[in-house]
Amino acid sequence: METVVLEHLASEADTAETVAAIPLAEIDVARPSLFQKDTVGLFFARLRREDPVHYCSESRFGPYWSVTKFNDIMAVDTNHKVFSSEAKLGGIAVDDMHRDQSNLELEMFIAMDPPKHDAQRKAVTPAIAPSNLLLLEPVIRERAAAILDALPVDEEIDWVQRVSVELTTMTLATLFDFPWEERAKLSRWSDVTTAIPGAGIVGSYEQRRKELIECAMYFKGRWEQRIDRPEGNDLITMMANSPATRDMPFFEFLGNLLLLIVGGNDTTRNSISGGVLALNRYPDQYRKLREDPSLIGSMVPEIIRWQTPLSHMRRTAIEDVELGGKLIRKGEKVIMWYLSGNRDETVIDRAEDFVIDRPNPRHHLSFGFGIHRCMGNRLAELQLRIVWEEIQKRFSFVEVVGEPERLLSNLVRGITRLPVKLHAR
Ligand code: HEM
Repeated sequence: METVVLEHLASEADTAETVAAIPLAEIDVARPSLFQKDTVGLFFARLRREDPVHYCSESRFGPYWSVTKFNDIMAVDTNHKVFSSEAKLGGIAVDDMHRDQSNLELEMFIAMDPPKHDAQRKAVTPAIAPSNLLLLEPVIRERAAAILDALPVDEEIDWVQRVSVELTTMTLATLFDFPWEERAKLSRWSDVTTAIPGAGIVGSYEQRRKELIECAMYFKGRWEQRIDRPEGNDLITMMANSPATRDMPFFEFLGNLLLLIVGGNDTTRNSISGGVLALNRYPDQYRKLREDPSLIGSMVPEIIRWQTPLSHMRRTAIEDVELGGKLIRKGEKVIMWYLSGNRDETVIDRAEDFVIDRPNPRHHLSFGFGIHRCMGNRLAELQLRIVWEEIQKRFSFVEVVGEPERLLSNLVRGITRLPVKLHAR
C-alpha cells in the first residue's frame, strides 16, 4: 500500500518538459500512478518517437520490454509461436500471474497457448454467437431504458456509479440470467478478480481468494440447476447444455465463465464513461452526433479506440527474437501497450483526437489481434450501440461538470468518478 501511495505523489508533476528530461533508460511506463494521473500518454509519445521498443531494467514488476507502435504491437500479437500467453510463464499482464497468492488454479484460455487455448476458445464461442446475442438485445434495451428513465435531470450525478456500473451489471446479469436482486455480486466478483490487493478493492490476497471461492461455489449451484434444462438464452444454460461445453471439468468451466464475466465488465463500463468524456472534450463531435444519430455505428468503435479499456496485454518470449532492431531474449516479458499503439500517428490519422465519423473506425488495437483477439468484441459493440441509442433518445446533453477520477491500474484503463448533469431532450 505504502509503495502505491508514495509512487502516486512522485508522479504528480509530469509535464511534456519533465518527461523529455528523463533519461530514456529510466522510463518506467508500467507505474500505475501514471495511468491514474493520465500522464502516461506523454511517456508513450516520447517512446514512440525515440525508442519504440524500449527496455526497462528495473521496476516493481521486474524488467520488461515496452512495445509502443501500432505495427510492432501487431507483430507481437500475431506471433503466438514466439510470444507466449501461458500463465505459468507469467501470463498476460505485466504483473506476473504467479505473484498472486489467491490463484485458484482456474483455467482461462486467455492465458494459454495452443493447442489448449484453441480447443477451449472453440468450446465457448457458440455461447456468444451473434445469433444468440441478438435474442438478448430486446431485454438489454428494455433494462437500459429503465435505468436511464430513473435518472434525475438538471442535477449533478456521478455517471460512473449511476449509469456505467448499473448498465454493465445489468447487461451481465441479463447475459447470465443472474438473479436481479443479487446482481451486485457479479460486478463485485469481476472487480475482485482484477484488483491489486491494497489499492482499494480488496485488502489482501487472502481476502481475494476467499471471495473468489464464494463465487466458485455460487456458480456451481447455478450450473447444476441448469444441466438438462436447455430452455433459456443465458450463457450458463447454453454452456451447461451444449455438447461442446457441458463436459468441461468444473474448474475449466468456471474459469472460462469468469473470463466471460471479467472480459466484458470493466471494459464495457469504462467505454460507457469514456464515451461521455470524449464527447465533452470534443464538442464538435457531440454536435455531429446530435445532427446525425446514425453516426452511433461508427462512434462506438471510435469510443473503444479512444478509451482503450485495456491499456496493455503481456507476452513472454519463448525464444530469442528481434523486434524493431532490439534483441529480446528468451524468458523476457514483452508488454504490448495498446493505449500507445492506438495513438500512433503514423498509422491512425489524428490519433489523439476523438472523431466519430472515421472511414475505418475498427482499425484499432483495443481488442488485440491474432488468436487471442477479443471474443466478445461484437457483443461489446452491441451493448454500447444500444446504450447510446437509448441515451440519445432521452438526453440532448450529458454534460461533464467536474474532473474525472481514474483507476490506479496499468491494465484496466478505468474512470472511477465522472460528475455530470443531464439535459432532457
Ligand atoms: C470494449 C470492450 C472490450 C475490450 C476493449 C476487450 C478487450 C480484450 C482484449 C485486449 C483481449 C486480449 C486480446 C489479445 O490478447 O490479443 C480480449 C480477450 C477476450 N475478451 Fe474481450 N474486451 C471487451 C469486451 C469483452 C466482452 C463483452 C466479452 C465477453 C463476452 C469479452 C471476452 C473476452 C474473451 C473470452 C477473451 C479471450 C480470448 C482468447 O484468449 O482467445 N470481451 N478482450
